[in-house]
Amino acid sequence: MMKKRILTGDRPTGRLHLGHYVGSLQNRVKLQDEYDQFVMLADVQALTDNFEKPEEVRKNIKEVLLDYLAVGIDPKKTTILIQSQIPEIAELTVFYLNLVTLERVLRNPTVKDEIKQKGFGQNIPAGFAMYPVSQAADITVFNASLVPVGEDQLPMIEQTREIVRKFNLLYCNVFVEPEALLGRVKRLPGIDGNAKMGKSLGNCIYLSDSEKELKKKVMSMYTDPNRIHPTDPGRVEGNPVFIYHDTFNPDKAEVEDLKKRYQEGKVGDIEVKEKLFAALNNFLAPIREKRSEFEGKDEVLDKILKKGTEKARKVAMETMKKVRKAMKIDYFG
Ligand code: TRP
Repeated sequence: MMKKRILTGDRPTGRLHLGHYVGSLQNRVKLQDEYDQFVMLADVQALTDNFEKPEEVRKNIKEVLLDYLAVGIDPKKTTILIQSQIPEIAELTVFYLNLVTLERVLRNPTVKDEIKQKGFGQNIPAGFAMYPVSQAADITVFNASLVPVGEDQLPMIEQTREIVRKFNLLYCNVFVEPEALLGRVKRLPGIDGNAKMGKSLGNCIYLSDSEKELKKKVMSMYTDPNRIHPTDPGRVEGNPVFIYHDTFNPDKAEVEDLKKRYQEGKVGDIEVKEKLFAALNNFLAPIREKRSEFEGKDEVLDKILKKGTEKARKVAMETMKKVRKAMKIDYFG
């Protein structure tokens, strides 16, 4: 039986962090045997808001690839590709743009948030506003049925499903409606207590952070702001330090004990944070080590990207034959 396909990806705008891990990377590692998995370095999408910094995007292709390899995404099982090198995606995007209204793209809640956060005001680059349409092309050009993503990407999958329905109805049944797969933790807070860990928010723990960087970040983490002395009863719910403990500390008994003592005012922040640092460091040590095995090996990395992209392109070309036929623009066969 043919394996079902996964397509997911990341914008190469910086190294990946713990939020990426629990949101999507962990599922990718888990599912790469069971599914025919494609993972995309979405450089075209990264350029929609970094078009004046192309060298940044280019540099981060390698950084994100290293993060993939470090967490255990295996290029023998997973096809890793560069979005810009598949021109069929751009072609499909143009056709999809006919199937969405301007009003609809600007209603996408994630796009709305980003527009606000980036301070575009009245000057929203058209390419940026349209990126969910291009993302629909990313997913469907490979006919993926499953998309492992973080919660913030749900509106993109919803929009993709709408476009697929419209295309299939108008022209011919070419595409499957993809489904999102969320990670075990929907949204990891930042170390500053912000609801979301995000590159642009500067509140991340990166998968490649050194032991020293990790220690500094953990010890400075936001906790219960109302707790001044170690003897004050503290709040565990919604406290990022305990959310991280629950997510990354495999010693559940230790976590329960810390929670209990925290609520009773019988443990200091330092002990809670030191134990979190130890747990996170245990988690990150093998990832760091695996990353260092590949660091600087540009030839190996280039080969992975080239092979993956070539394989992906073949799939995309096949899909576009069907699309052109369905849209009656297959003039020369
Ligand atoms: N929008 C995603 C992000 O911000 C990256 C992405 C691009 C993506 N194309 C995709 C995710 C296709 C899933 C499927 O990280």
